[in-house]
Amino acid sequence: MSLTAAKVTSAKVAALYDAHVMKNYGKAPFTIVRGEGSYVWDAESRRYLDFSTGIAVNTLGHGHPHWIRTVQEQAARLTHVSNLFHVEGQGRLAARLCERAGRGRVFFCNSGAEANECLLKLARLWGRQRAGGKEGVCYEVITATNSFHGRTFGGMSATPQEKVQGGFRPLVPGFRHAEFNNLAAFEAAMTDQTAAVFVETIQGEGGIHPATTEFLCGLRDLCDARGCLLMIDEVQCGIGRTGHFFAYEAAGITPDAIGMAKGLGGGFPIGAAWVRQGYDELFTPGSHGTTYGGGPLACAAANAVIDVIEEEHLLDRVREQSAIWKGQLDDLIRKHPARLKGLRGRGYHMALVVDGDPLDLVALFRSHGLLCVRGGTDAIRLMPPLTVSPAELTAAVDIIDLALGTAA
Ligand SMILES: Cc1ncc(COP(=O)(O)O)c(C=O)c1O
Repeated sequence: MSLTAAKVTSAKVAALYDAHVMKNYGKAPFTIVRGEGSYVWDAESRRYLDFSTGIAVNTLGHGHPHWIRTVQEQAARLTHVSNLFHVEGQGRLAARLCERAGRGRVFFCNSGAEANECLLKLARLWGRQRAGGKEGVCYEVITATNSFHGRTFGGMSATPQEKVQGGFRPLVPGFRHAEFNNLAAFEAAMTDQTAAVFVETIQGEGGIHPATTEFLCGLRDLCDARGCLLMIDEVQCGIGRTGHFFAYEAAGITPDAIGMAKGLGGGFPIGAAWVRQGYDELFTPGSHGTTYGGGPLACAAANAVIDVIEEEHLLDRVREQSAIWKGQLDDLIRKHPARLKGLRGRGYHMALVVDGDPLDLVALFRSHGLLCVRGGTDAIRLMPPLTVSPAELTAAVDIIDLALGTAA
């Protein structure tokens, strides 16, 4: 059946999914067909304020004119050539990321899991070098409890959660896990075999749990003292969402490697791994690669995202507006103490801690016209686009207030 001639309806699309698409995702009961700014519309023309942003992807909201123009022009000129050739936009994007992360080099790929996979391979290469060229001596990576690093075998093995790992064992060897934000636990987990420590600055899927400044600074010192890499997963919290381009900047540290994706392309798939100078030449020709990574179209999209972040001063805007929004969310929590238990996060990477199953409240808010995402077992993530207006931030608070009032 083709839906191109007939009118798209949520029911028809759901039937196609039911029959033909793998059932590995839980889904909202409607199809989104259009987006503009901070809003999306479903096939039945219902409008939703989108604070899910494709799970922290739509940095500029939907249909930003500069992003559209850039992607359209690039699509018309050149879409794909492979990494057998230089791509102008890739070189320019790498330079812009190094400007923000520090001296080093960038590897481009297509997703967060792939960016992290590059970091995990970097840890192996670093460990081999540290062990005088011997493989299998220094190869362990320590990750945190409640973390999430992706669904590839490396990403799953780095993610000590039964709901991620269950059914897929045996996993990749060489991972140890220690309690998040517990420096002593990380220190205790380190051995002569440890090549790297790998943590999220803010645990996103785990429910928006920020790493403390003391923890990140302590990890930096520990890694320096032990000759281990400090690798930071910024896939969800990076690219301006917290009011810093990279969320770790607030702690004043410099990592040895960064994984990023999601918000970088603003809706076009792209991932990137930045590696600090001194480690950036561990990868040699032929040691890693991907066909699509850093293609002209993806890099045009990512360069457009950074253009707008710079030209519209979005980092300042996130910092200023989120401070006011946080006050509104605090008021909301005081007004609905039976359902809302607290607030976690920074900037536009926020979680409302809820009483009961977060999915029930996600569905309730959705029915009142607000899209948000579950975070961990006890929270709802609110992740508006960086371009959101103050009125839209207030509108989200009003929808939650109304929805909780109706459901009381
Ligand atoms: C912190 C973090 N790392 C890695 C990933 C995996 O990214 P992707 O889904 O693009 O593979 C995610 C996805 O949610 C994430 O939040």
